[in-house]
Amino acid sequence: MSHEKVEKNIGLMMILILVVISFGGLVEIVPLFFLKDTTEPVQGLKPYTALQLEGRDIYVREGCYVCHSQMIRPFRAETERYGHYSVAGEFVWDHPFQWGSKRTGPDLHRVGGRYSDAWHRAHLMNPRDLVPESNMPGFPWLAENVIDASLTPKKLEAMRTLGVPYSQADIDGASAAVEGRTEMDALVAYLQVLGTAIKTRR
Ligand code: HEC
Repeated sequence: MSHEKVEKNIGLMMILILVVISFGGLVEIVPLFFLKDTTEPVQGLKPYTALQLEGRDIYVREGCYVCHSQMIRPFRAETERYGHYSVAGEFVWDHPFQWGSKRTGPDLHRVGGRYSDAWHRAHLMNPRDLVPESNMPGFPWLAENVIDASLTPKKLEAMRTLGVPYSQADIDGASAAVEGRTEMDALVAYLQVLGTAIKTRR
C-alpha cells in the first residue's frame, strides 16, 4: 500500500510534509502581496524627510528596537494606552520595518507628538531625569555626533530603489537638509513623526 511506503520512508515523508505545510503557508502569505490593505500606503502617509530618515538609522544603530516595539495590536488594552492599532499601510515605506517584539519599554509606534522635542532630548540624555524609575540607558553622545551629510542622498536613493517615492529634488536637497545637525536632532525628528499618518489621539 502506498501509505505504508510513506510511513516506512522517512525521507519521502519529510518531503510530503513539507509540501503540505507549504500549501498552508502559501495560502496565508501570498495574498498579502496583492491585497490593497497591505501594499498601499494609508492616506496621508509621507516618506521620511532626510533628517527623519537619518534619525531612523540612529534608532536602528542604537538598538532601540531591542526594548521598544512599533506595533500596536488591535486589543482594547493596547489601543487605550497607545492609540489606534497599527495598520499595514503605515509601514509600506519602512525598509526594514521596526515592528519588533520586545517591550522592555512602551510601544513607540504612536509616540509622535506625544511629548515635546525638549522632553525627548532630556529623556535621551538621561531618562532618569524625567522618569526616576526608568531602566532605559542614556544616549548622551547623540547630542555631540554630527550627521555625515555626504551619505544622506545615497540613503534616499536606496529607499527610492525600494519604491519610496522620493523626487530628484528630495535627493538633491538631502545633504543641505541635514548639514550640521546632530544625531539627537535626527532621532527626535524621527520619533516625532512616528504614527502620525493616522490622526487618532488617545
Ligand atoms: C534597555 C531597554 C531600552 C532601550 C535600549 C531603549 N529604551 Fe526607551 N524606554 C525603556 C523603558 C523601560 C522606558 C519607560 C521608562 C521611561 O520613560 O524612561 C522607555 C521609554 C522611552 C520613551 C517614552 C515612551 C512613552 O510613551 O512614554 C521613548 C520616546 C523612548 N524610550 C525612546 C527610546 C529610543 C529612541 C531608544 C534608542 C536610542 C531607546 N528608547 C532605547 C527602555 C529602553
